[in-house]
Amino acid sequence: MKLPHTSLEGKHLPVMIDEVIKICNPKYGGNFMDCTFGAGGYSKELLKFKETKVVALDRDSQVVELANKLEDNFQSRFTFHNKKFSKLDLVSPKKFDAVIFDLGLSSIQLDDLSRGFSFKSKAELNMSMGQTETSAKKVLNTYSSQDLRDIFRIFGEEKEALKISKNIAKERTEQNIKTTDELVKIIKKSKKKNYKKINESTKTFQAIRIFVNKEVTELIEGIIKATKILKPGGKLIVVSFHSIEDKIIKFYFKNFSKNRSRSNKYLPDYDNKLSLFDDYKNKIIKPSTKEVKKNPRSRSAKLRVAIRSSEKFFDPKELRSKFKYLTDLEKRIA
Ligand SMILES: C[S@@+](CC[C@H](N)C(=O)[O-])C[C@H]1O[C@@H](n2cnc3c(N)ncnc32)[C@H](O)[C@@H]1O
Repeated sequence: MKLPHTSLEGKHLPVMIDEVIKICNPKYGGNFMDCTFGAGGYSKELLKFKETKVVALDRDSQVVELANKLEDNFQSRFTFHNKKFSKLDLVSPKKFDAVIFDLGLSSIQLDDLSRGFSFKSKAELNMSMGQTETSAKKVLNTYSSQDLRDIFRIFGEEKEALKISKNIAKERTEQNIKTTDELVKIIKKSKKKNYKKINESTKTFQAIRIFVNKEVTELIEGIIKATKILKPGGKLIVVSFHSIEDKIIKFYFKNFSKNRSRSNKYLPDYDNKLSLFDDYKNKIIKPSTKEVKKNPRSRSAKLRVAIRSSEKFFDPKELRSKFKYLTDLEKRIA
């Protein structure tokens, strides 16, 4: 079947698509949830297998047009919900063979300079992926210098967070910081000059984006709810792009699997049989050199997969408590 086309297509290359599809094993059908529809790369590939059904979500309203076209083409096999994945339990009563997360931004979002994600733009500082309560501009102009320092240091792992936040607080006494190039100028002024590997603004921009979109809270709630809707033997597949995300996923998969270490201080000694996942091998799948060459944005991607055990679902409270310092930071208000 010919697949629908919109102007957004072709703007995002799906990361590790062969690996994701192989793990899903859709040859004989199955129910799949694509929590991060984006340009529909994974959903469309899964729908190429005749017996599959796909439920997709994305918080960004920009992708609705493309998703609607896919719904028209695959009527009973594809449904889309313009929702955040922290609410994935509300969209379908089904149990799934795989739930997939491909975190972060799509190239559609990054390349649309008007959305303010890219430090190459001169656009208004927005950085919302959709359905957020705040914007980058509001955060930068209303949060205290200490809050900004914490956001940059913790979500961006930015060593010069203190200096950047102080300079932001100083600049905005003159006039509000409105555009990405104004922010870039302040960051450049604040940082020492010897940054070769990544752009000096990368970490600060990542931090603001995580904060504005409450990405840590979304991830934790999303993966817990995904676990709840998986069939026994179903796969929880996560492609992540920065170390905070990977830390959360690794902790969850390692500590709630059958072969978890009993010595973890965060975990009560559950009944030996109680586990959410089968044995977890702590294996990371990375994009091939060929893929990185073709799609440089895939270079930091890490794919992890856990297999749902047949045990009853229980709430993994310790996952929330371990990363409470991050979700509490996302809750801060100016
Ligand atoms: C990397 S892209 C996914 C690309 C997709 N796999 C493809 O191949 O076309 C990530 C997408 O997830 C969406 N997203 C990020 N966080 C989300 C959340 N909490 N809930 C729903 N969608 C989210 C973004 O809006 C973006 O469109």
